[in-house]
Amino acid sequence: MKIELGQDDYLLSKNQTQSIYCDFDVVVNAHMLIMGKTGMGKTTFLRRAIQQMRRFSPAPRIHIMDVHGDIDIHGASSVRFSESTEYGLNPFVVSADRHFGGVRKRTQDFIATINGARPIGSRQEAVMRHLITDLYSANGFFADNYKSWVLEDGYARKHPKRYPSMDDACRFAFGKLKQLIIGSDTKSGRALEELNKVTTKLYRISKQHAATGAKADGELTEKAMDLRTDALRFYKDYIENLETGKELEDFIKYESKEVLKSVVERFDNLKASGIFKNQSPPFDPSNPVWHYDITALREDEKRMFVEFRLQELFSAAMEKGPVRREQEGLLRDIMIIDEAHLFFRDDQNNIINTIAKEGRKFGLGLVCASQSPTHFSEDFFSNVATKVVLGVDQMYWDNLVRKMKIEAKLMQYIRPFHVIGVQMSNKGDTRSKFTMVRVPKEQ
Ligand SMILES: Nc1ncnc2c1ncn2[C@@H]1O[C@H](COP(=O)(O)OP(=O)(O)O)[C@@H](O)[C@H]1O
Ligand SMILES: [Mg+2]
Repeated sequence: MKIELGQDDYLLSKNQTQSIYCDFDVVVNAHMLIMGKTGMGKTTFLRRAIQQMRRFSPAPRIHIMDVHGDIDIHGASSVRFSESTEYGLNPFVVSADRHFGGVRKRTQDFIATINGARPIGSRQEAVMRHLITDLYSANGFFADNYKSWVLEDGYARKHPKRYPSMDDACRFAFGKLKQLIIGSDTKSGRALEELNKVTTKLYRISKQHAATGAKADGELTEKAMDLRTDALRFYKDYIENLETGKELEDFIKYESKEVLKSVVERFDNLKASGIFKNQSPPFDPSNPVWHYDITALREDEKRMFVEFRLQELFSAAMEKGPVRREQEGLLRDIMIIDEAHLFFRDDQNNIINTIAKEGRKFGLGLVCASQSPTHFSEDFFSNVATKVVLGVDQMYWDNLVRKMKIEAKLMQYIRPFHVIGVQMSNKGDTRSKFTMVRVPKEQ
């Protein structure tokens, strides 16, 4: 499983030919970093690499995140994502992995991803977390019971079970808001609200009693008695009308209508974004190359799309378990991300960073192309096995030399479209040298 990058340039100058390969059985992971100014051939390089990767055996699935629509690979299974297509992603698919998966993890990832696109306030975040957790419970997935994180379990024998969708989330959130706005549309909720009001009044009167001193105020005492009777009645009503046992909890969790309303709006906007649909994309399962045409999505939507899709792929790979020793080097999925600056965040929990660090164990390779060394996250830069430099603006040379621990003079040997610099970290090597590679002319 290797791709040919070109010829060793130094040896060529001595009339010797030696092909330079990126050998996925030898490098420490299947991640690649491609760096080059605009027009230096990043997309072209990716296309050529994909053509070679698709011939790997056993064939990994290659996922191309195409933001410009210029990585069209002949014969790939291509799906276009936009507001008007009926398929998309489901952000609420739970991984059943006891350690890495689960409802809480999924909820955190969901919030982190939408926060990355547009941050939400901390009160909104708390309400959103409660909403999603309750939505999961309503669908038979319980945060504290890992056995419930699968579709087939005891719960499923009584109720048909499926992952909640974005539509469900919107409906669920709106339902909660409706309950709050009409003073809870359940009798118990209303009784609870009245009880609260009466108790507050009683408290005020008891304070007035204390203030007026020893002399009892007949009128106040009478009023307090009446209120106490009311309170008892409402308390009785409340208990008699409890339906789910969750009323008090809800009352506290979703206390502010304004906050809940803004969360409902956020869900509605997410639903309208054209990323989340109930129908999964109709990729051809027998085709090794899946081309995600996301040109029609807005920039923040592209980011969310890629993050959610990578999370899905990572979860699926974890579900299959770590690649076993006897399959060492097995590649399940390779993700190709051009214009990667759109997707990097220096956040520990960002999925690109997680895959950079953990992906190899689960058979995942991540190939990211962007313009400057500052575009890539620290995690990606320090983990990626293969770095390819196509030509970087001089203002970034110092930065690059420091990050890659190479000699500054080597940068001068890079000649756009002719000679590129490649650094590969192979198993067992303590140092990886920076090799100049003559690339083939574009056909
Ligand atoms: N190795 C190469 N030899 C000759 N021309 C190339 C080579 N690589 C890329 N090009 C040309 O350079 C232009 C920019 O390439 P592209 O891959 O789109 O760059 P980038 O993605 O870095 O902006 C294209 O016209 C492409 O055909
Ligand atoms: Mg490009």
